[in-house]
Amino acid sequence: MKTPEKFVISGGRVLHGEVEISGAKNAVVAILPATILADEPCIIENVPEISDVTISIQILRELGAKVEFIAPHTYRIDTRSIRNHCVPYESARRMRASYYFMGALLGKFGHCRVSRPGGCPLGDRPIDQHMKAFAKLGADCKQDRGMIDITTPNGLKGNQIFFDCVTVGATMNAILAAVKADGLTIIENAAKEPHIVDLASFLNSMGADIMGAGTDTIKIRGVKYLRGTSYAVIPDQIEAGTYMVAAAATGGDVLIKNVIPKHLESIISVMEKIGVKIEQFDDAVRVSVDGPLVKTSIKTRPHPGFPTDMQPQISALLCLAEGTSMIKEGVSEQRFQYVDELRRMGADIQVDGKVAVIEGTGKLTGAPVKACDLRAGAALMIAGLAASGVTTIEDIYHIERGYADMEGKLRALGACIEKKPITPVTKQNEPIIQEVQPEKPHQDAV
Ligand code: EPU
Repeated sequence: MKTPEKFVISGGRVLHGEVEISGAKNAVVAILPATILADEPCIIENVPEISDVTISIQILRELGAKVEFIAPHTYRIDTRSIRNHCVPYESARRMRASYYFMGALLGKFGHCRVSRPGGCPLGDRPIDQHMKAFAKLGADCKQDRGMIDITTPNGLKGNQIFFDCVTVGATMNAILAAVKADGLTIIENAAKEPHIVDLASFLNSMGADIMGAGTDTIKIRGVKYLRGTSYAVIPDQIEAGTYMVAAAATGGDVLIKNVIPKHLESIISVMEKIGVKIEQFDDAVRVSVDGPLVKTSIKTRPHPGFPTDMQPQISALLCLAEGTSMIKEGVSEQRFQYVDELRRMGADIQVDGKVAVIEGTGKLTGAPVKACDLRAGAALMIAGLAASGVTTIEDIYHIERGYADMEGKLRALGACIEKKPITPVTKQNEPIIQEVQPEKPHQDAV
């Protein structure tokens, strides 16, 4: 069993220097399953070293694909050997994005059996819109003891799909299922996130015919054959935003490289309102602070609005600003669980439903805390970097799902951060009884 680890941060160091952003988690977790649709091998570059990628590759291999690591951040994937069309619970529960294997297997083979993704610390996250899209394309979806069985009695046929809410996952799954369907599919009220454009660009580079990705209407004309391609995943806009906030929270001066500034517009605009100085270059942004941080009000919205995946990190920054800020969560059901942990560090935040009111105290103090999900973990890292004293963060596997070598990148910017094993706590004078336990999979993941 892998010994659980924690981050130990001695706060108060000002971040300086340059940091390179990795490939986007929410793009790569769709692009890796999408290689199933290819009729020839693909090379995927700029793949981030995060545990969600490790799990996606493991699932591809369990299905029968050949996945080779051929160069740093680069994999060659040959899915022509796939014979198994089932993703069982033990694999699917480890990563919420395992739902993309449904769209990809369905689009390629016309059937699949995939476990519902595991439970989720962000509240109720239904997948009814994914099922609605598959059904519109002619699929028959049945659920039996947590497994979703999808068949296509008459093949997949293009159709009009209107989503009842703006959903990233269902938009991507509809694209995956429609790309080889007969005829034209029109997706309306589609999500517009950069990772949707990236998935469409990847598929188009193989010969797919997808138009309008990045707008709310996407048109897909089905094709019979998808050739091999070599494709680099876009940079991760949320990782970039996280380092931007970390730089500002420590009063630092950091050049954030390998970004697409256009993808950061809403984050830049909010940070400028808070008083952070941001310079934009072709593929980099420089973040520095030369005045006080001030309060603001934010509502999270689907792209191009301020992303829900940056909400916890910006809250940590607003704890350090002057005045009372307000955050309205407009996308996720429950995304304020991290607030209790920030309060342990001296934050003054009141939550009422989907609204948080933050009294900026200008300072935070180190404390032992736990990451309850990926972005909550990122917020605690930022708080720990800015706080006085020592912060220890447990349950860091959440952070490692989506941030490549976060401690290494922060250390290179001057942070004092170490990863240490968590030693079991014992009562004084009580002998330590070592229990041998079988290896457990990670807790259900977002
Ligand atoms: N929704 C439904 N029915 C559905 C699908 C979604 O009601 O069938 C609702 C959800 O309950 C939610 C809203 O629609 O209230 C938006 O959900 P969406 O489908 O857009 O989210 P997702 O695809 O499950 C992705 C990201 C999340 C990110 C959200 C919102 C991946 C793998 N995950 O989730 O990323 O928060 O979009 O942008 O792309 C993260 O990276 O930390 C993360 C949680």
